[in-house]
Amino acid sequence: IDLLVHSTGGNATSPIFYGLMHEDINNSGDGGIYAELIRNRAFQGSAEFPSNLDGWTPVSNGTKLALKKLATPLSNALPYSLNVASLGKEIVVGFANDGFWGMDVKVQNYTGSFYVRGSHRKPFTASLQSSLTGEVFGSVEVPSRLGCHSHAGAGAQNHADGGWVQHHFTLVPEKAAPNSNNSFVISFDAAELRNGSSLDFNLISLFLPTYKNRPNGLRIDIAEALEELNPKFLRLPGGNMLEGNTINAYWKWNETIGPLKDRPGMAGVWDYQLTTGLGLVEYMEWCDDMNLEPIVAVWDGLSLDGAYTAESEMGAVVQDALDEIEFLTGDAATTKWGAVRASLGHPKPWTVKYVEIGNEDWLAGRPTAYDSYKAYRFQAFLTAFNNKYPDIQVIASPSVFDGMVIPAPAAGDYHPYLTPDEFALNFGRFDQLSRQNLTLIGEAASVHPNGGIAWDGNLMPFPWWGGSVGEAIFLIAAERNADKIIGATYAPGLRNLNRWQWSVTLMQHAADPALTTKSTSFHVWKLLGNHVIAKTLPVTAKNGGIGPLYWVAGASDKGTNIFKAAVYNSTAPVPVSLRFEGTAVSKGATATLTVLTGPQDPYAFNDPFTHVNVVNETKSTLVAGEGGVFAFELEPLSVAVLETTGG
Ligand code: AHR
Repeated sequence: IDLLVHSTGGNATSPIFYGLMHEDINNSGDGGIYAELIRNRAFQGSAEFPSNLDGWTPVSNGTKLALKKLATPLSNALPYSLNVASLGKEIVVGFANDGFWGMDVKVQNYTGSFYVRGSHRKPFTASLQSSLTGEVFGSVEVPSRLGCHSHAGAGAQNHADGGWVQHHFTLVPEKAAPNSNNSFVISFDAAELRNGSSLDFNLISLFLPTYKNRPNGLRIDIAEALEELNPKFLRLPGGNMLEGNTINAYWKWNETIGPLKDRPGMAGVWDYQLTTGLGLVEYMEWCDDMNLEPIVAVWDGLSLDGAYTAESEMGAVVQDALDEIEFLTGDAATTKWGAVRASLGHPKPWTVKYVEIGNEDWLAGRPTAYDSYKAYRFQAFLTAFNNKYPDIQVIASPSVFDGMVIPAPAAGDYHPYLTPDEFALNFGRFDQLSRQNLTLIGEAASVHPNGGIAWDGNLMPFPWWGGSVGEAIFLIAAERNADKIIGATYAPGLRNLNRWQWSVTLMQHAADPALTTKSTSFHVWKLLGNHVIAKTLPVTAKNGGIGPLYWVAGASDKGTNIFKAAVYNSTAPVPVSLRFEGTAVSKGATATLTVLTGPQDPYAFNDPFTHVNVVNETKSTLVAGEGGVFAFELEPLSVAVLETTGG
């Protein structure tokens, strides 16, 4: 096929085209990107997932552990705690936590803390040990701060705190563990408990070193892998997580901020309780540290059971969302919520340019809940935001493709979870959008095999090569219309291999960082996301049209020319002869061609347990021939980017 890329025409693209979406699913937050190692660190519970001692075991036969709801809890948010008593048989008592199914132990700094209440003057020992052999890889003595009866100064036991005293420590193992089958242990001399007294512990925390050294931050290997995608936005906090299972169990932003001891957590919608340690402020810090534009989704009165807020009660729901945005963006000196943000260590307001109203309002409680969204829920938000924050782009949670007529100046959100064939068939879909139909692709992935049952059928076990090429076609289709598409993101991003609900994710992980796996789709999204077209350019094709080659072309803001293509449904390689109009690219000009190909089997995937990456990447330098033509061939089922060298 002969392609001529014109030097004029086309459109400016969205400056934030490729991004990320995060919700806590598959233990992607707790037990995922959130670098906390302790599972069930504060015994948080809900009606759905009552408080329990999951993850905790006694370290000796003489230790008795019990879950207690004390009259003097650590905080109202954390009413349950761990009671540790001595049965009088052992010298040492204590408890172990096996983490999110193991812990990575290396010679590095682990930052820990715990609250304890009771009487104990000798030190505590915090250690990292093998769960199999008991081998200790590192330990630290933590002097007891209990029993200091003065009311002032460091180490004081403050009776206003109900006797709870926080202890901090740094633990540096002397050696690395051979595998991740490890536990964190706090132990102490039982002697002082022999008179029948006991100690109460809560909020027992141990952090890996974090991305950009943020306290309460992100796991480095996962964050750095996401950074490789060259993302420009973060859609937060979900996803179904935002909605909650029932009308009172949604993601309440103001319960995810402030000291960890004041966060009650929430019943997650993916079968586990959430700590919300990765809360609103941590999401914004993630944006700061990765230079991402936040797309903040606010709760809009719908829960996953289909319940929704009556029109007469919308005022409070809308006000809560306005408060959330004031918390993020309000002036610290003159606004109530801006002052709260400042008190939490962030005097400088963040900038929020995008707010999404709910999540997938076209789905839960259909059709009546969706009718309520169209009739009054969305409009209530749109009016309020246009009045108070006219510079914010409001995004409806359905798109025009979900049967929603979206009132200007709002945008929509489109979530295709499809088969690769469907992505190819829908190539022209975005050509129909007008500039009035700005659309975010807030979630997308190939999840079903061709011929499989779409939407309701079982998901594939992992992203697979043929599915990833389908996504490339879809992304190329979107990039061709990147003046109407706000951005695109894969979802869900992460899956803990020990507990997951949704198999097809961009990456997989476990406690052992060796299991952090970039899927076939990761490689495709990374390639496309790292060549940023700032302006699309029209292409004229001779002797052929779209399919089996799918393409988009444009110019970067560095002055290079970019051509992105995918080959799908072809039995033979596709020869391409590509020319960029104008004098900049003439005979002898050079370009880098990066091509991703996969194995014969289109269903092959990157298996975290074999470490085999089925995606083959080749990079070559092409030299333009007569007339500035770059000539190359692309294999069936391949994804390629050509970028000219220099400006
Ligand atoms: O990405 C998984 C789920 O798919 C999201 O929570 C939801 O928005 C969508 O239905």
